[in-house]
Amino acid sequence: MKKTILSGVRPSARPHIGNYFGAMKQFVDMQYDKDFDGADKYFAIVDLHTLDANKGEAMRQASIDIALDYLAIGIDPKISNIFLQSYTSYHPELAMIFSYLVTVPYLMRGHLYKDAEAKGKEVIAGTFLYPVLMAADILMYDATHVPVGIDNKQHLEITREIARKFNHEYNVEYFKEPKEYMISEVQLVPGIDGKKMSKSYGNHIPLFSTREEIEKLVKKIVTDSGSDIPENVYAIHKLVRDEKELKDIYEENKGKYKILKDILIGDLDNFIRPFREKREELSKNMDYVYEVLKQGNEKTKQIAQMRMGEIKKICGLGM
Ligand code: TRP
Repeated sequence: MKKTILSGVRPSARPHIGNYFGAMKQFVDMQYDKDFDGADKYFAIVDLHTLDANKGEAMRQASIDIALDYLAIGIDPKISNIFLQSYTSYHPELAMIFSYLVTVPYLMRGHLYKDAEAKGKEVIAGTFLYPVLMAADILMYDATHVPVGIDNKQHLEITREIARKFNHEYNVEYFKEPKEYMISEVQLVPGIDGKKMSKSYGNHIPLFSTREEIEKLVKKIVTDSGSDIPENVYAIHKLVRDEKELKDIYEENKGKYKILKDILIGDLDNFIRPFREKREELSKNMDYVYEVLKQGNEKTKQIAQMRMGEIKKICGLGM
């Protein structure tokens, strides 16, 4: 069976190491995984999913920033396609069709909706329909493998449900019901306070931090005095250094929080520096970045155009 990998990143806040380990790292690794030799690979910048966070020029800039991020972490345009979700109108068009396959009560169980609702906000319709648009992103390209973090598990279930429903209601076998969506093994990347790393908790370490930023953040890591091993320091440390080595280091420096934090600063900087430098270099060569996007945009446009033609025919839409 032909394999197709697709994932997407929202151009909202700048990515942090939680986003990297939770999802983006897999995109890079899958490029070199023998299992995916010859698979088509698509990595979207899902700006339509982000209209609540950015307006106008800020949106465009944020989208370009994700293109730079993708390239800086090692998405190779010779292997993968990087594209902008809103380059054509096909994704929202398919989402509109899908919105007729799912019920309101079903979507009300979506966690984004529930979370927004729980905060007592009046939930925007875009948030409500988020999983439907995401299903369109995935099913448009017949993606078989969708690397995402654990927080997207439910969205993938909704995608499957929509594929099933479409096939059933139109009595076709058009959409593959993707069985092998991938959820990152890194279930939880802890932030500097030990809670899940998240921009909204303000406990994150940006993926392209400078050394100074790293120092500042590591100094802020909450260490509960009493134990010999500062748990929160170790939890972040093991992301960037082999645990076998860490065991010795932490054993040797029992109770010496300052030394352990200094070692973590060095290791985090070693890990982040190549990304930071690559990004810096790319930002001086924006023509290249735009060219990469153009290629990916045109390639996905071809596919989406062909697929939407077929889908509309099945639905009896258009002429
Ligand atoms: N929901 C994803 C996130 O949390 C973004 C996303 C949108 C996505 N469309 C997608 C991921 C399609 C994988 C496939 O950031």
